[in-house]
Amino acid sequence: MEKHILGLELPTDPRWVNIAEKSIEDILVDHAYCEQKAASSCISLIVKFPDKRELVEMLTPVVAEEWGHFERVIEELTKRGFGLGKQRKDEYVLQLSKLEKKGGSREQQLVEKLLINALIEARSCERFRLLWKHIEDESLQKFYYELMVSEAGHYKNFLQLAKTYLPDEYVMKRWKEILKGEADILANLEVRGDRMH
Ligand SMILES: [Fe+2]
Ligand SMILES: [Fe+2]
Repeated sequence: MEKHILGLELPTDPRWVNIAEKSIEDILVDHAYCEQKAASSCISLIVKFPDKRELVEMLTPVVAEEWGHFERVIEELTKRGFGLGKQRKDEYVLQLSKLEKKGGSREQQLVEKLLINALIEARSCERFRLLWKHIEDESLQKFYYELMVSEAGHYKNFLQLAKTYLPDEYVMKRWKEILKGEADILANLEVRGDRMH
């Protein structure tokens, strides 16, 4: 789990957590929008695939959890006298969405989306772990620890759902390809302390 957390191919640059701590307002604002996007993404899966019963059942409570995370980030901002502020361009998610293969069956398209979501959860989990371990602020340590655990659960949810709709072998093959694609994206992305990714 130390180096290759949840199958991720490239560990986060260790410089990230140090610079992130110095720009806590920016990190919290960016984080709030990550939670919002996580909730929105589950909602759009539910409305796009209302016929997929397991998906609707599994993701409905996740929407509430992600929104709960959003609320808690807002609390952390408020405590520090900061506001939400505008959403910043999310280069990471933008590039990740390009890994999504177009075409194929409806199930294949669904699995693409589920795997991209699983990946974002895995990477977030890895970053929360770093923040939990290295940040000095004790209340934030506790907060990031809880988020790490929660996002690890979501990662499992998404992978499990993918395997509900297509064979394990297909899903794992695509998962490995997507993991590789993400490592390439991350390797070429600037390390920024004002972004979660
Ligand atoms: Fe979350
Ligand atoms: Fe999540």
